[in-house]
Amino acid sequence: MIWQGLLKHYKSYLPVTENTPELTLHEGNTPLIHFPNLSEELGIELYGKVEGINPTGSFKDRGMVMAVAKAAEEGSKSVICASTGNTSASAAAYAAKAGLKAIIVIPKGKIALGKLAQAMMYGAEIVEIDGNFDEALKIVRKLSETSPITLVNSVNPYRLEGQKTAAFEVCEQLGQAPDILAIPVGNAGNISAYWKGFVEYHEKKQTGLPKMFGFEAEGAAAIVEDRVFTEPETVATAIRIGNPASWELALKARDESGGQIHSVSDEEILHAQQLLARKEGIFAEPGSCASIAGLIQQCKNGSIEKGSKVAAVLTGNGLKDPQTAIDQVKVDPVSLPNDEQAVRDYVEDRVKA
Ligand code: F0G
Repeated sequence: MIWQGLLKHYKSYLPVTENTPELTLHEGNTPLIHFPNLSEELGIELYGKVEGINPTGSFKDRGMVMAVAKAAEEGSKSVICASTGNTSASAAAYAAKAGLKAIIVIPKGKIALGKLAQAMMYGAEIVEIDGNFDEALKIVRKLSETSPITLVNSVNPYRLEGQKTAAFEVCEQLGQAPDILAIPVGNAGNISAYWKGFVEYHEKKQTGLPKMFGFEAEGAAAIVEDRVFTEPETVATAIRIGNPASWELALKARDESGGQIHSVSDEEILHAQQLLARKEGIFAEPGSCASIAGLIQQCKNGSIEKGSKVAAVLTGNGLKDPQTAIDQVKVDPVSLPNDEQAVRDYVEDRVKA
């Protein structure tokens, strides 16, 4: 069967009516890949849900297709969001396809290069503020209450509806829910959406429920420390958020599932990013790798049982943030003359090494 996108495939699970436009960029249906090398290192059975394969390179497309379709259905002409980058890229793409205007409000200088390029190419109106994501979100929330413009941040309930489909797919791909679902936490929408998805699918198909393990960045660990971070900071700009909008829903997901939420340092995140690329051939953006970093941490301290079946959500594509990758690896290409022998000598030497 040819994949026709989330709104068609999961129609009966979503608020799709006969008036909902058939919007799609063929989002969803992303691979769940077994990671044999990391599994062995950690003593667990590890899989990665590779959301960077989505049309704009992140899981946001699942929620955005639903939110933008509903905005169009309701007659809205424009959508607005605050973003650390991925939401804005996705909103811009789906608005372009649906023929709506997209306005995005972003923290100046804190958006990874690829994400900014996406928003520009898809034709969004881009507003930068000298403030962080939380401040941008506050502004657009207020604005959308008084202006005829639809807010498509994850406080829009249609976003979580679309995003819950990832949990359905994980259950289908494994034949049941994993023991543990590991996921990065920023604004806390996605952990809430996955939990909703697991619960709904279990009710319909008895697929079981995982423990939800969420991971925040140490410099933006509001839920872990139970306080707002007024100046959140982390190399993982996607999750540089100090006052998560879905805070309560994340606590609910954690507690109902018997899960945990912890924080990981920038060093742990970057180490996990490289490990994932070098051991499993998957290049995920830093924010995504909070899930892998957290698993390494929790396997080491013994809070994850050996042999557990674990799915880690890799939320965004590594190509979105090439600068952070280049800065940490610091590998300079070897420069040689345009000469067959010189290249041969070098390569043969390396093959032996
Ligand atoms: N991973 C990536 C790559 C993200 O872009 C985000 C959030 C998260 C994880 C965290 O998900 O907010 O649902 O807990 N990015 C948002 C944005 C905030 O604006 O793109 P969350």
